[in-house]
Amino acid sequence: MDKVLEAKNINKHFLKPKDFHVLKNISFAIKKGEFASIMGKSGSGKSTLLYILSTMDTEYTGELYLNEKLVTGRLPSELSRIRNEHIGFVFQFHYLLSEFSVLENVMLPAKKLARKTNQEIEFDAIQKLKMLGIENLAKQKASRISGGEKQRVAIARALINNPSILMGDEPTGNLDSYNSDNVFNIFKRLKEEEGLSLLVVTHDEDFAKRTDYIIEMEDGRIIS
Ligand SMILES: Nc1ncnc2c1ncn2[C@@H]1O[C@H](COP(=O)(O)OP(=O)(O)O)[C@@H](O)[C@H]1O
Ligand SMILES: [Mg+2]
Repeated sequence: MDKVLEAKNINKHFLKPKDFHVLKNISFAIKKGEFASIMGKSGSGKSTLLYILSTMDTEYTGELYLNEKLVTGRLPSELSRIRNEHIGFVFQFHYLLSEFSVLENVMLPAKKLARKTNQEIEFDAIQKLKMLGIENLAKQKASRISGGEKQRVAIARALINNPSILMGDEPTGNLDSYNSDNVFNIFKRLKEEEGLSLLVVTHDEDFAKRTDYIIEMEDGRIIS
């Protein structure tokens, strides 16, 4: 029992403006503690695939498993809980609530899950901020910190519920090389120290080469 994520024969069509077969028989699995990257030209279907894998898009055929349990076909309310509990997501743009403090942003997904008291959640959030070296920013408004810091806050937020897998869609796409390196090293440390599984779409070949393996996409297929 160590497959954290498995896709079996995922196919997807966009029907508008005309029928377009965007994902073609996508099958692969990520094991616990694996750090995989997805590369491929713009338009090859990477973001579309991540939306399906993160359970946000349910319009596809094939099967998606999380921790060896079938996720495909579940009700929207169940999917929302599964997503909040098991999947951390980091985007190119951070989507922090700018009027809230860093600490409040990180606490939000745990408050939504409602398994712990606010005090426990605050403690967890500070632990995550410490792990990312930004606990000194806890009380700052999210709008008042730098781009690299915002992305680290977004990672802390993605980790607050201790997900089974962290997914990223070009999480370093807006960062300079110093901050990209920083994010990569954080991901690597999460894999090595916490046994976290990661799946990250990137355009950065140096980043991808340092992951455990590269899933290469072309025209909606995995080619290697
Ligand atoms: N909502 C949509 N409706 C129709 N076509 C779409 C839609 N979203 C994306 N596409 C098309 O699907 C293809 C794959 O897009 P995407 O998954 O965003 O690629 P990538 O992330 O690899 O750049 C592209 O040709 C894009 O134009
Ligand atoms: Mg994309």
